[in-house]
Amino acid sequence: MNGSDVIVKVSGLVKDFRPGFGLRRKRVLHGIDLQVRRGEVFGFIGPNGAGKTTTLKILMGLIRATEGSAEILGHDVRETAFRRHVGFLPEGPYFYDFLTGREILRFYGKLAGGHAASPESHIDELLEWVGLSQAADLRLRAYSKGMLQRIGIAQALVHDPEVVFLDEPMSGLDPIGRKEIRDLILRLHGEGKTIFMNTHILSDVEVICDRVAIIAEGRVVHEGGAHVLLERERQPFDIAVSGLDPELAESLVTELDAELRGRGERVEVRVREKDVDLTLERILARGGRVRGVAPVNAALEELFLKAVEGGPHEEEGA
Ligand SMILES: Nc1ncnc2c1ncn2[C@@H]1O[C@H](COP(=O)(O)OP(=O)(O)OP(=O)(O)O)[C@@H](O)[C@H]1O
Ligand SMILES: [Mg+2]
Repeated sequence: MNGSDVIVKVSGLVKDFRPGFGLRRKRVLHGIDLQVRRGEVFGFIGPNGAGKTTTLKILMGLIRATEGSAEILGHDVRETAFRRHVGFLPEGPYFYDFLTGREILRFYGKLAGGHAASPESHIDELLEWVGLSQAADLRLRAYSKGMLQRIGIAQALVHDPEVVFLDEPMSGLDPIGRKEIRDLILRLHGEGKTIFMNTHILSDVEVICDRVAIIAEGRVVHEGGAHVLLERERQPFDIAVSGLDPELAESLVTELDAELRGRGERVEVRVREKDVDLTLERILARGGRVRGVAPVNAALEELFLKAVEGGPHEEEGA
C-alpha cells in the first residue's frame, strides 16, 4: 500500500480529562491505533462512553491529545490549512433554527471559504443531492430529525472535502431516515470520498462499512474488514412457522442444531443459511406454514459483544 493511501493515521492516542479542579484525571483513551485508507467507509463502533467522540474531536483539532499522534491526509491534526479538505458532521449538531436550509449552507460555505465563484448553484446542487430542494427555504425549526441530519451532511460537504467525518449520522432516526442517510453515505463512497463514521448501530455498519474498528473503554479491541464479520455460511436465518410439528421441531434441534424461539402456535426456528432450504422442505412436508424467512445479521452483534466484554479485560483474565 502506498503511504499516501492512508488518509487517517492514529498512533498511540491517549486522552486524559480532568473532570474538575482538584479532581483526579481520568484516562478515556488508552493508546488508540488505527488507519483509514483512501476511498474507504470506515466504521468506528463501540458502546456509549467508549471514546468515539473524543477520538473524533482530537482528529478535528477541537481538543488536544495527551499523548500519541493523529494525522489526516498526511498532516498533523494540529495544523489548520489542510482542513479545507475535511468535512465534519458533529454528534447531535445544533444549527441556528431561524435560518433556512439554504441560508445554513451559505453560512457554512462562507466559513469554509469555498466555491466563492458560484455559491448559489453549488448550494442548489447540494440541496438536491441530499433531497432537500423542496425544503430549501423552510426554516430549520420546521425540519424533521432526518432532514436536520441531511442538512448536516450537506453542511459537511459544502466545500467538497476529500474526507468526511460523521459522528453518529443515523442516531435518533427512524428506519426510513436511517436508510436515507445510508444511501447518502453510499453515494459519497461512490464518488470516491473517504468516510469515517462513528456509530453504535450495527445493522448500518454491516450495510455500508468496508472496515471497522471496535472501541471499548478507550481501547481498540478489534479492527478488520466488515465483510469478514458477515461470513454468509455462518449467518443464521430465522424461519417463522405456525403449526410446527413437535416431533419435527425436536429433530431440527438435534440434527441441524436449530434454535427454537417462542411458544404455542407461532415459533421461530433459527438455522444456518446452508440448512434453510432443507428446513423449509421439512416444515412444509409436515403441514407447517411458513410465515417468513429473515437473515439474523447476528455476526457483527456477537463479535461486538464479545469484543466489548472480553477485549479490555483480557490482561486481567490471563
Ligand atoms: N470534557 C470531558 N471531561 C471529562 N470527561 C469527558 C469529557 N468528554 C468526554 N468525557 C468522558 O470520556 C468518555 C468517552 O466519551 P465519548 O463522548 O468519547 O464517548 P462515545 O464513544 O462518543 O460515546 P457515545 O456513544 O455516547 O457518543 C466518557 O466516559 C465521557 O464521560
Ligand atoms: Mg459520541
